[in-house]
Amino acid sequence: MDNPSSSAGKRAVTVRRILKVNHAGEFGAIRIYRAQIWMARRLFPDIVPALCDMRNDEIEHCRLFRDAMPSRHAKPCRVMAFWSLGGYLLGFLTALGGRNMVWICTEAVESTVHRHLEDQLASLDTRDPQLHGLIASIQEEELAHLSEAEKNQTRHGVSYALLLPIVAALTDLMIWLSTWGDSSWMRAEMARSRQI
Ligand SMILES: [Fe+2]
Ligand SMILES: [Fe+2]
Repeated sequence: MDNPSSSAGKRAVTVRRILKVNHAGEFGAIRIYRAQIWMARRLFPDIVPALCDMRNDEIEHCRLFRDAMPSRHAKPCRVMAFWSLGGYLLGFLTALGGRNMVWICTEAVESTVHRHLEDQLASLDTRDPQLHGLIASIQEEELAHLSEAEKNQTRHGVSYALLLPIVAALTDLMIWLSTWGDSSWMRAEMARSRQI
């Protein structure tokens, strides 16, 4: 394994953190969609097919990030149960607010994920072309989820103005907590690594 204090070692650590965060994020996203699907089947079944398509994409993303771990000596997040609980709670609570709330939640989560992937792509570039390619292809599907969420919102009222920043902040908080605060210095680290 690389010496952790060398440049190559630091980059390897960054790559492992990226994989850990992304895998946990997909794991949480699957639970958000599962809870929303469960509720939507009872309350507004017309949106179930779209939610199932997105959940299936997240299952595939989760598998792809998990498969990329062993060769990079990365391990899943230690608090996956936390992601599970957070995901189910967010999914159930937003679905209780109605279909528009579901799409606002999707927009907030997917745009936060998109921002994180954007940072990672800028930092990985030539350092791990394989992972860069994987993240770029997953990002395309996350952007499709984002535009689906924007397209399906019938109104942009008070609930949008209130819920969007709250869910975005909760998503950031979950990422931060699940990595024991690593995600904030990972951002700084990625900004620095672009200059190495
Ligand atoms: Fe995903
Ligand atoms: Fe997504």
